Amino acid sequence: MKRRNILLSATMIGLGFASAAFADGLPPLAQKDTYRVGFAQMESNNPWRIAESKSFVDTAESCGWELIATDAAGSAAKQVADVESMIAQGIDVLFLPPREEKPLIPAVKRAQAAGIPTFLVDRSVDPNAAVAGVDFVAFLGSDFIKQGQQVAEWTIANFKGEKGVIVELEGTTGSSPANDRRSGFDDAIAADPRFEIVASQTGDFARDMGRQVMETLLQAHPDVNIVYAHNDEMAIGAIQALELAGRKPGEDVMIVSIDGTRDALQAIIDGKMGVTVESSPFFGPLACETMKRYAAGETIEPWVQVSDRIFTVENAADHIDEAY
Ligand code: AHR
Repeated sequence: MKRRNILLSATMIGLGFASAAFADGLPPLAQKDTYRVGFAQMESNNPWRIAESKSFVDTAESCGWELIATDAAGSAAKQVADVESMIAQGIDVLFLPPREEKPLIPAVKRAQAAGIPTFLVDRSVDPNAAVAGVDFVAFLGSDFIKQGQQVAEWTIANFKGEKGVIVELEGTTGSSPANDRRSGFDDAIAADPRFEIVASQTGDFARDMGRQVMETLLQAHPDVNIVYAHNDEMAIGAIQALELAGRKPGEDVMIVSIDGTRDALQAIIDGKMGVTVESSPFFGPLACETMKRYAAGETIEPWVQVSDRIFTVENAADHIDEAY
């Protein structure tokens, strides 16, 4: 090791910085009692986002966070500006759920350049443009491809008809869950010739837009008998549209989805929905634990993976009280 690096390493250790991150080229994080932490939320228009933000707020005191939380109100441009403002306010650590895969990359790189360890939570960025362990510390989140595959597998196992005519309601265009939940489901369902996806359109992960898109697609495809929604909010919107059109969700149309919200579990109990694969929004405790491991000098795995359950009529009633 060159003399300059030996001196610099000794200084960092003296200041309480662990050495693994420094050696990797990631910004170091000192071990201390309190941290100024940025959490740049993308929007608050659904129960999942509200539960995620609450999880960070609820974790703040016990983890020693002075939390600076923002809400980009559905705008990637505002989310970038929010991160820039946090950098200017001197945060120690950034937790960021990037609304879309590409537009948030400059914000991730600016935080890194400012010496702020950045953890992506729940959504990720384009891996061709920013890499975990290099441009940011790690991605904390679910396997969205697997979630899509699990919905497809459940659909294949439980659909009783001869021909499955599928409408797919996609999440926010350009977001990692929309991209991965589509490929996971589409590839798995293609293995069974009974099924055809006749339309696939974004509902932006929102209930009202899911309802509106379903109303339109129902006119073009009145023979639809399966709706795959990339999240529960759009699934509930689709149920509303189908009922308004005189259809019977759960009887003549199978509804399958992802998240595990209270309304979705209730819809399963009511017989209107078949399955929801869990995607947990409760990232606060995991964010705290991972940050502390990093400050202690551990090399963090590039993907800190969250494991998810499956909710069906078999277990929805057992879990509705813990849902959000
Ligand atoms: O990134 C996770 C997704 O984003 C959730 O499925 C959805 O409800 C949220 O808006």
